[in-house]
Amino acid sequence: MKITILGGGGFRVPMLYDALLACAPRLGVDELALYDISSERLNRISVVLQGQAAASGGVLLPFTCTTRLEEALEGADFVFCAIRVGELEGRVIDERVPLNAGVVGQETTGPGGLCFALRTVPVMLELAEAVARHAPRAWFVNFTNPAGLVTEAIQGVLGGRVVGICDSPTALCRRVARALRRNPEDLWFDYFGLNHLGWLRAVRDGERDLLPDLLADDARLESFEEGRLFGGEWLRSLGMIPNEYLYFYYYASDAVGAVRSSLQSRGEFLLEQQHAFYAAGGDGPAAALHAWHATRREREARYMEEARSAAGLDGRDEHEMDAGGYEGEAIAVVEAIARNQGRVLILNTANASSLPFLDAGAVVEVPCIAGSTGIVPTAVGDVPGHARGLITTIKDVERTTIEAAVSGSRELAVQAIALHPLVPSVTVARRIFDAYSAQHPQLRHSLR
Ligand code: G6P
Ligand code: MN
Repeated sequence: MKITILGGGGFRVPMLYDALLACAPRLGVDELALYDISSERLNRISVVLQGQAAASGGVLLPFTCTTRLEEALEGADFVFCAIRVGELEGRVIDERVPLNAGVVGQETTGPGGLCFALRTVPVMLELAEAVARHAPRAWFVNFTNPAGLVTEAIQGVLGGRVVGICDSPTALCRRVARALRRNPEDLWFDYFGLNHLGWLRAVRDGERDLLPDLLADDARLESFEEGRLFGGEWLRSLGMIPNEYLYFYYYASDAVGAVRSSLQSRGEFLLEQQHAFYAAGGDGPAAALHAWHATRREREARYMEEARSAAGLDGRDEHEMDAGGYEGEAIAVVEAIARNQGRVLILNTANASSLPFLDAGAVVEVPCIAGSTGIVPTAVGDVPGHARGLITTIKDVERTTIEAAVSGSRELAVQAIALHPLVPSVTVARRIFDAYSAQHPQLRHSLR
C-alpha cells in the first residue's frame, strides 16, 4: 500500500510517521511519499523522520521526498492532505485583522476561517483534480482547514472518495469517557454538527444516557477541558457539551479580549516557534528529533490558550495534551477502509439524510460507518433549535465562501463575512475584507 502526504514538510508529519511505523506491517503499508512545495521544509522533516526510524529500533518504513506532484501521486492508495496556503504568515493576517475590528480572530472560526478558505479552495481544487487524474482509485483524507468547508469544495471532483478529518470530536468523546470512568469503545457518542461547530448530545450505554448525570456533577465537569471552559451552569443550560471551538461563539467578546490583552495571537506564536524549528537545519537525526519533540510539546501546552485565559483557567492538564489524536484519526480511517472494518468514526462527509434539515450534499461532521465501500453517515435526526440555526447559517456562509473562491467574486466574499454571526455589521465586514485584500496579495489578484 502506498500513502502520499501532500504538505509532507508540515510540522505534524512526524506524528503520522510515528503512527505508521507502528502499524505499517499490519496494514501492509510499504511506501510513503512526502510531497511539498518547499524542499527546505521537506529536508528538515525528513531528518526528523530518520531520527524516528532510528529510534524505533530499525523497523523501517522507507519514505521518499519530492516537490513533483505527479510523482508523489502515482499509484497512491491513500492521499493525506494537510496544507497551509499562505503559510503561517497568512494565518497571522487572518487572525489579526478581525481582532483589530473587535471580532474573533481565529484560524478556522469567524472571518479568519473564511479568508483562509478563500485562499485555500482554489489550490485544493487543483490538487483534487491532480489526484483524480493520477491516482483515481485513491482515498483522499483531508486535514486541510477549514476541514469541513474544504471537503465540501472538493467533493465535486472526488465524490465520495474524499473524507474530512478532525481530532477534536474524538478528543472530546475520550475526555468525557474518562470523566465517566468508562472505556470509550463501550459507548455511543451522539455527536453532530459541522467541523469545529459540533455538540455532544448524549452518551449512550445501551438504553441509558450517561450525559445528564455528568452534567449534574460539577466535580466531574471540572475534570476535563470542555467542562472547565464552558462551566457547569452553561453546560446544564445547553443540555449538551459543545466542541471546544464553540467557545468562540458562546464567549466571543471574552475570547477577543483575551487575545488583545496578550502579546501574541496563536498564529503569531506559531510563526515565531515554527520559524525557529525549520531554520535550525544542519543537525543530525537525533538532534532534529529532539528539537521537534520540544517544539511540539510547547505547541501542545499552549493550544487554545486564548480560550483558557479568557475563562480564567491555568495551563493544560498533562493527560489532555494530544495523545494520539490527529494521527490516530488518520490511521483509524485508513485501517477501517483497507480492512473493511465497518468501524464508527466521527468524520466529515456528505450529509445524505443524517441531519434532516440540511440537503444531501452538505458536508457534516457526524458518527459514520467507515469501510471499504466508503463512509456512510449515521442518522442523527433533528437537533435542538439553536444548534440547528447555527449549523444552517454557517453552512450557508461556507457555501457562499466556496462560491466566492470559485467564481472570484469580491461581492460574495464580503457577503459571506457580513453574514457570519460573529460579525456585527456590514460596515465591519467591509473593513475586514478591505484589510484582508490589502494584506493578502493572492486575494487581491483572485477576487474582483
Ligand atoms: C486541533 C484542530 C485542528 C487544528 C489543530 C492545531 O487539533 O482540530 O483543526 O489544526 O488543533 O491547532 P494549532 O492552533 O496548533 O495550529
Ligand atoms: Mn480540526
